[in-house]
Amino acid sequence: MAENEFNFSELEKRLGVNRRTFLKFCTGVAASLGLPTSAAVAMAEAVADIKKRPPVIWLHGQECTGPTEALLRSEQPSMEHLILDLISLDYHQTLDSGAGHQVEDMKKKSMHDNKGKYLLVIEGAIPEKDNGIYCKIAGETMTDLTREAAEHAAAIVAYGSCASWGGVQSASPNPTGATGAPQFLKDKTVLTIPGCPPNPANFIGSVLYFVTFGKLPPIDDKGRPKWAYGRLVHENCYRRPHFDAGRFATEFGDEGHKKGWCLYKMGCKGPETYNNCSSLEYNNIGGQVWPVGVGHPCFGCSEKGVGFNKPLFSLAEVITHTPPNMFPTIEDREDASGITAGAAALAGAAVGAAIGATAMSAKKLDETQSNSNTDKS
Ligand code: SF4
Ligand code: F3S
Repeated sequence: MAENEFNFSELEKRLGVNRRTFLKFCTGVAASLGLPTSAAVAMAEAVADIKKRPPVIWLHGQECTGPTEALLRSEQPSMEHLILDLISLDYHQTLDSGAGHQVEDMKKKSMHDNKGKYLLVIEGAIPEKDNGIYCKIAGETMTDLTREAAEHAAAIVAYGSCASWGGVQSASPNPTGATGAPQFLKDKTVLTIPGCPPNPANFIGSVLYFVTFGKLPPIDDKGRPKWAYGRLVHENCYRRPHFDAGRFATEFGDEGHKKGWCLYKMGCKGPETYNNCSSLEYNNIGGQVWPVGVGHPCFGCSEKGVGFNKPLFSLAEVITHTPPNMFPTIEDREDASGITAGAAALAGAAVGAAIGATAMSAKKLDETQSNSNTDKS
C-alpha cells in the first residue's frame, strides 16, 4: 500500500483517528460492501483528498430527528468524527448553530455554487396533502424545498424510515398525505437507509462508497443498499436455533422470555424484515444492543408495509426457510443479485468488527495519546 501518497498527518488531525485505525476502518467497509481489499486503498485515498469532500444539504421533514440523534449519540466517537469530517455539512436544520435568513442564504449559495456536486440527505416524511402546508421550514413547504434541493443534487439519500416511505406519519389514515422521498421524487434515484432509527454504519458505509466511486452503491427494489439490507433479520438472529427447535416466548416475562427463546409468537417481524441489526447490532458496544437482543420483538422498522403497518401482535410472514446461521446458504434471495452471498453474510460482521474495532482503537488511542504523545505508527 502506497501509504506515503496520503497526507496522513493532515488526515489524523481532520478525522481524529490515526492512520492504522483509519485504514482498518476502510478495509472493513470495503469487505462489507463485497469489494476487494484494493477498494479500501481507494476509499482511504478518496477521504484523504479534502477536495473530494462532498457538500451536503440535509433537510428535515416530518420526523423526530431520530436518525440524526442516533448518529450523534452512538457509542462510536470516531464515527462522529468521520461523518462530520468526511463530508462538508453545509446545511443541517438540527445541527446548524446559526438560524434564520443567514442560514437559509448559505444553503441557497451552497446549492448554487455546487450544482450537480452536492449530496442531498432527506430525513423525515414529506406531507403532500393540501399543497404541503403541514410541514413548513422558513415559510416554505417541505414539498417545494425537496423539489428545489433535488433538482441539482449529485445523489439523494433518504435517511430513516420516514424519509424512505413515510414511516409512522404515513400510517393509516395518513391525515397529512405523508410520503417518502422515493415516492415524491418519482423521476430520481433515491438511496434509502430505512430504520427507526437507522443504523449510522449503514449510512456511513454508503457515503464512503459515494465519496470513493462518485456513485451510489448497488440498491435493491426498495432503494436500500444491498450490502446492508441483503439479508433478513431472522437469518442471523442469535435466537434462531430456538425458532428452529420450536421454543417460543409467548408474553413478556414468561419462562420462555426469561430463557431467551424466540420472540416469533410475540409478533417478531424478523422473518419478513431486511436489515443487518442481527449481525451488526447498534452502538458497537457488544452485548446484543438491538431490539431482539434486549428482549423486544422486531417490529419491522426498516420494512415498508411491515413497520408502522402491521400490528405488533400479528404473526410475521416467514418469507424464507433458510438453514440457521451456522450453516451458510449458497444462493442469495432472487432480488439480491449484485452482492455475493459471501459479501452479504460478511456485511454485518465486517462493518461491526471494523467500526467497533475502530471505535475501541480510537478510544484506546485517545487514552494512549493523552498519556504519551509518541504514537507514530
Ligand atoms: Fe429472532 Fe425474531 Fe426470528 Fe425469533 S422470529 S429467530 S426472535 S428474528
Ligand atoms: Fe428495526 Fe427490527 Fe432491526 S425493529 S432495528 S429492523 S430488529
